[in-house]
Amino acid sequence: MITPEALRAERALVEVGRTGPGGAGLRACRTQDSGRSGETARRAMSRWHERGATAEAFPYAETVAHFRVTGRAAADGALVALLRASYDSLPVKPSLLRAWLPSTFDQDDGDYHSYVCTGVLAWVVGRAAPDGRRRVLDELVVATAADLLRIEAEALAATPDRAHEVRTRAAVRVLAACGVMMPALMSEQMAASASAKAVDERSGSIQRTARSLAGTVLDRVPGPLREAVEVTLLPMTRLHDEQMFIRCIQIFEGVYEQVVTSLRRARVALVSGDAESARDELDSATARVRTTPAVFRVLTTMPVDVFAVIRGYTAGRSAVQSTAYRAVERLAASSARVGAAGAPASDGDEPSLQEAYLALDRPSGVAHSMACLDDAWNRMKRTHWGLTLKIIGRVPGTGGTSGADYLRQALDQPLFPWLVNRGGEPWRT
Ligand code: HEM
Repeated sequence: MITPEALRAERALVEVGRTGPGGAGLRACRTQDSGRSGETARRAMSRWHERGATAEAFPYAETVAHFRVTGRAAADGALVALLRASYDSLPVKPSLLRAWLPSTFDQDDGDYHSYVCTGVLAWVVGRAAPDGRRRVLDELVVATAADLLRIEAEALAATPDRAHEVRTRAAVRVLAACGVMMPALMSEQMAASASAKAVDERSGSIQRTARSLAGTVLDRVPGPLREAVEVTLLPMTRLHDEQMFIRCIQIFEGVYEQVVTSLRRARVALVSGDAESARDELDSATARVRTTPAVFRVLTTMPVDVFAVIRGYTAGRSAVQSTAYRAVERLAASSARVGAAGAPASDGDEPSLQEAYLALDRPSGVAHSMACLDDAWNRMKRTHWGLTLKIIGRVPGTGGTSGADYLRQALDQPLFPWLVNRGGEPWRT
């Protein structure tokens, strides 16, 4: 339920008529009243139905455009009803459309996953062959970072100011950091040059650099993946800052998924006594977690009063519900055997990470790699806690916890609680 105060505050920010931090999204700012009605999207959907309503031919561009102009919370009711009915009549076969549609009609009962469209991420990754999933995940993260930069660079061009320049520079650093760690879409040279330009405060050309870098990377994104990234930006409000917030969350979700993949693979390697591969997997997870400080830097540019408005639209949706985040904690910490979901452990089940590690003849540095991952994960949690204190103080979270105090307590929980050094102390690097 969106409070009347949040509705009023959102309208006041949009009515100022500027885009960028503290203002409206570019589309919400530029579209005339006629574009807000949802009629264009409804007509496109009628034509789609007349032509057989196949998942591949869905008119994403028109519907996404409407959602960005009005915000998901104020989307045209008739259009939302059409989208819900389309979902109900869609074949059960997995498709981008089936993964995406629930996020378009979740205004009353949505959660974190429908908010940031994690179903689309799962669909994109699930379509790839098992040995290609790491690469697809990397591409998704880099493409999302490039789109974050595109959004900021376009708004900066419309309303140049110092605060927005700082944010855009921070977004260049995110893309550079992701490009270095996940060289799926960027060459090493591109990533290095991007990070050099991001730190060069004197260059004064951040606007041009940002636009051209975002454009170059987005041009390299394979078509179906670009479409998936494009449709997952469905903010609840018309505010520019919420678009930034959603893209940042999606980058984190990609990183959490990477860590899940690495932990699973490390376990498999340990089971077969391959300590070297296990180490490589753990180190690659650590490298990916180490890209997150750059994302937090962008988030610190969130104006406190604007985030208070966004929170008014996202009650009940919180990353505390993230299944990937919880899977990381579960996989790392569990001492139980890994069986079919929910089934009691049996002798046929796979050993847990802990069991597989303890069974190794020659651990050869695996504990050190785990300790490094634990350290990077803990630093990420600490930065998130600090950010929370800065932006919302000590008020309860949208997920129903006590907020910053809950996050402070979670800091004391190591990722691998069973991994202790000889003194019985948690191993930290
Ligand atoms: C303005 C920025 C942010 C603020 C103020 C904030 C605040 C909070 C709060 C208060 C909680 C406690 C749970 C609740 O009741 O909602 C939480 C949990 C969480 N947040 Fe954030 N958050 C922010 C950004 C993010 C981003 C971008 C991510 C990336 C996905 C994220 C990931 C998480 C996770 C994974 C949890 C669960 C932690 C746990 O259960 O130990 N947060 N956040």
